[in-house]
Amino acid sequence: MSENRGLFITFEGGEGTGKSTQIALLTERLTGLGFECVKTREPGGSPSAEALRHVLLSGAAEAFGSEMEAILFAAARYDHVDALIRPALRAGRVVLCDRFMDSSRVYQGLSGTMDMDFIDKLQMLAVDGAVPDLTLVLDLPASSGLARAQARAEAAGLSAPDRFEKETNEVHEARRQGFLQIAAAEPERCRVIDAAMSREQVADAIFAEVQPLLHRLRPTRKEC
Ligand code: TYD
Repeated sequence: MSENRGLFITFEGGEGTGKSTQIALLTERLTGLGFECVKTREPGGSPSAEALRHVLLSGAAEAFGSEMEAILFAAARYDHVDALIRPALRAGRVVLCDRFMDSSRVYQGLSGTMDMDFIDKLQMLAVDGAVPDLTLVLDLPASSGLARAQARAEAAGLSAPDRFEKETNEVHEARRQGFLQIAAAEPERCRVIDAAMSREQVADAIFAEVQPLLHRLRPTRKEC
């Protein structure tokens, strides 16, 4: 985003790849260095988008068809960008977002049933210029990610998978390949991180990608 003074970082990947853990670790590191961070997620991140999150993840919109679902994800994204992401970037903050436009490209497009052209047009409208400066694709074989996601759900006392978790292993593997395909096509924006490494190794690999971009920002605390 040329107009902003902040840094927009998105985290993408399949289920159980550790995105939220790594967002928390990176936020801690950047905050410690004096940078102001905003942690957010999709679908959601603004009050209207959170309302749509419930509709989408409960499966309530599934019966409306794939087009409608894709449009609802895009509507949520448009509001999220407008209400939270763009103002934070204009204020010079680091925005760390758990899933963004590439999740729609993969879940609704590359591994789904929707026409890719339609999905790409929707993303242009939804994102409205707020293209991430850096996208970190956390990569893990689908079976390992699913096992981790199941263990996490059991520990949290959740029994039923959500609308998008319930698919077969093949679909999850197709999503993994979809993210890798996007990363290969857009190497200037995307970096693939091996999420099978230890939590700390993944965090270090992520920081190594973020560090070169920090010179664009001014830390908010003097000692940094
Ligand atoms: P959530 O529990 O927030 O994410 P995670 O799997 O990262 O822990 O669930 C979000 C689900 O919504 C996830 O299965 C991916 C799906 N999704 C889409 O299908 N399209 C999108 O554009 C986005 C943002 C998410």
